[in-house]
Amino acid sequence: MDIPAHILDAVHASDETSPPKRIKSTSTSSWKAPSTARFPSKSYHPHSSAEDVSSTSDSEPDHGYQTDFTTPASSDSYPDEMPDDVEDFRDREYPQLKGKTYLDHGGTTLYAKSLVEEFSADLISNLYGNPHSASSPSALSGHRVDAIRERALRFFNADPDEFDLVFVANATAAIKMVIECFKDHAAASNTPIWYGYHRDAHTSLVGVRESTKMHRCFTSDEEVDIWINSGGLGGPRARQLGLFAYPGQSNMTGRRLPQSWPGRIRKSFHKAATYTLLDAAALASTAPLDLSDAATAPDFVALSFYKIFGFPNIGALIVRKDSAHVLESRKYFGGGTVEMIIAINDTWHAKKETSLHDRLEDGTLPFHSIFALDHAMNVHERLYGQNPMKFISMHTAQLGRQLYDGIAGLKHANGLPACRIYKDENAVYGDPSVQGATIAFNVQLSDGSLVGFEEVEEAADERNIFVRSGSLCNPGGVASYLNWSPAEMKAAFAAGHRCSNPTQIMLGKPTGVVRVSLGAMSTAADVHTLLRFLDEVYVGRGTQLFTATAVQLGQSAPLSPPTSPGPIGPVGQLPPLNIPHPLYVPGSHPNGGNPTPSTAASAGPSENAPWDSHDTALPQQRQPPPTEADKPPLPPFNPADYIKLRKPWEEELRRQRQMQQYANVGMEIKVRELEDASVFSRNPTPSVKARKFGRSVVNLLRTKSHFADGRPPERPPMPSSPLPPPESRREASNPLSSQRSTEKVHFHHPVETLGM
Ligand SMILES: Cc1ncc(COP(=O)(O)O)c(C=O)c1O
Repeated sequence: MDIPAHILDAVHASDETSPPKRIKSTSTSSWKAPSTARFPSKSYHPHSSAEDVSSTSDSEPDHGYQTDFTTPASSDSYPDEMPDDVEDFRDREYPQLKGKTYLDHGGTTLYAKSLVEEFSADLISNLYGNPHSASSPSALSGHRVDAIRERALRFFNADPDEFDLVFVANATAAIKMVIECFKDHAAASNTPIWYGYHRDAHTSLVGVRESTKMHRCFTSDEEVDIWINSGGLGGPRARQLGLFAYPGQSNMTGRRLPQSWPGRIRKSFHKAATYTLLDAAALASTAPLDLSDAATAPDFVALSFYKIFGFPNIGALIVRKDSAHVLESRKYFGGGTVEMIIAINDTWHAKKETSLHDRLEDGTLPFHSIFALDHAMNVHERLYGQNPMKFISMHTAQLGRQLYDGIAGLKHANGLPACRIYKDENAVYGDPSVQGATIAFNVQLSDGSLVGFEEVEEAADERNIFVRSGSLCNPGGVASYLNWSPAEMKAAFAAGHRCSNPTQIMLGKPTGVVRVSLGAMSTAADVHTLLRFLDEVYVGRGTQLFTATAVQLGQSAPLSPPTSPGPIGPVGQLPPLNIPHPLYVPGSHPNGGNPTPSTAASAGPSENAPWDSHDTALPQQRQPPPTEADKPPLPPFNPADYIKLRKPWEEELRRQRQMQQYANVGMEIKVRELEDASVFSRNPTPSVKARKFGRSVVNLLRTKSHFADGRPPERPPMPSSPLPPPESRREASNPLSSQRSTEKVHFHHPVETLGM
């Protein structure tokens, strides 16, 4: 099919925005030198001896590189020397991408082939022992870990004299370590903790609030600015211990948040000590993290290395040494963090005094993974240049703009945009100072009705295009961009919606988004492929076909407002909840709006009809799209009604949960679901959903081993239930069961049963 001009324009980004001509290296070896961002580096050569490892090479020139992604004026300048075009090495270095379009770098980016090869050669050629032992192989490990720790600090322009780096499992573990230390510090000094976090925070940051009663969610940047300008009014008081946390980049929208807050907070807060925690997990993936100025740097930075290099799966907590004392009161110790302890008849112990990381890294470090980190930095520098993150930032910013322009330009014949993009009003795609290469959106049809985000993910998956969908562990982002009030969210939960098993559209609103995120090795072809997919499936020939089905299936979408928002009577006299709103289910059967495979419990007689293996997402039958006048008006939504409604539903849920304690029941349900999923499977490769089912079944089957004799107890008799027969009930009432993401599945049966 012909590709619309705007897509081609977007993909072959206008010449005027092209970077200066890149200097092509004749061979990739021209980028072998390890990074020396700001501090002289120690280089390690695989296969060398322990002595070699600890040797320091100060001969590397200081390139004086300063990260400037926060400075718009400088953000359109590329590094002086550019590496080869990514296309030149992508096939060679990322063979796993052959024939695939990977657009979930926010989940994890991908590792290069030479990283795996060099790591493997290193492990095969060298004998490494546990760093805690004293043998030569152990000393070799210990030396390497120290050298790599220092090198990793330099990767972020952090002077090892001013910062320490604690290896942890991932960004979440780093965040947890900070709050655990804070709690112990607060207990030791009798100073309660105050915690502030930004609306765009990932769930891993939000969870910190459970450690204290005093917490505040800042709902905008302006609120943070006002707070800082006021010198901390509305924050921690004197004799309280403050922690303010925020993400460097929203993992939902890709918006980059101000980097100036930590320095300003440090400067202007005098009453109560307020420390700053930057969650750099999403930011560091495609942007240089610059900690060169310790005076303005965050006190703590959390990040995951797999998001930067694809491998290894480890993370780091970077600590500004001037603020390290807050982490020193941690009570727990484990093997490796103490010099000596008495276990019997006394409880004395002495912590290690050498360094902060020595006191925080419990147990044996993931030392092999740390060696892989060294190779990862080597390979990144070889592929992406001496300032790899700066190149990657510019490269992805440019592609991100093409992607944004392309998606924003997709329009239906009636002029309606095909995608609702969730973007901060100040975000400018292409300007890495304010925006990363991540786009969150939902697909809408020509009549404005939404396509479920999981359906888009699944349709893309079937074409080897891999995106992420859902609420993305970003509750504040979902609430603000998708306009969900707390009462509505609770009502949605009560009706069966779960992050892990979502109802995609409720109350006419999406509960999540489709997220496309680019990475270092993304190319214009990836952008092109996605745009083409969206255009072909949702705009091109799909437009009218979809519209007809969307409206048909929307006739009885469940969690819709009651017809009259008046007082709710006793159960059984509640008003019907059948207010239509458009709901699109692309997997629906060609001949007229039968539900998708997993909604089969409520399907009509043709529910077992085979799926069209080619056009799975495209219903075949055309029907005239309804006019606006055909649709009944939506009455106002009253959350209180749903809170009342959910009571009987919750009781039923509770009862079902008790039932699930008996693993055999749950197992049977899951297995049947899996069977259902395979019966209705639309093509031979397992769909995203089916794979999710598979995982949950495997997990469930594992619970079998909880029974001492390996056999589950007798299945209890089913108590009498107000719900429909088990066959159709199991999907609707089991919160863990398959829910094909239409409201119909989640709410229809209970509502019916309750006489509504
Ligand atoms: C902004 C942000 N913070 C925290 C996390 C959690 O990272 P991890 O799962 O590696 O701990 C993520 C993961 O996607 C993220 O994007």
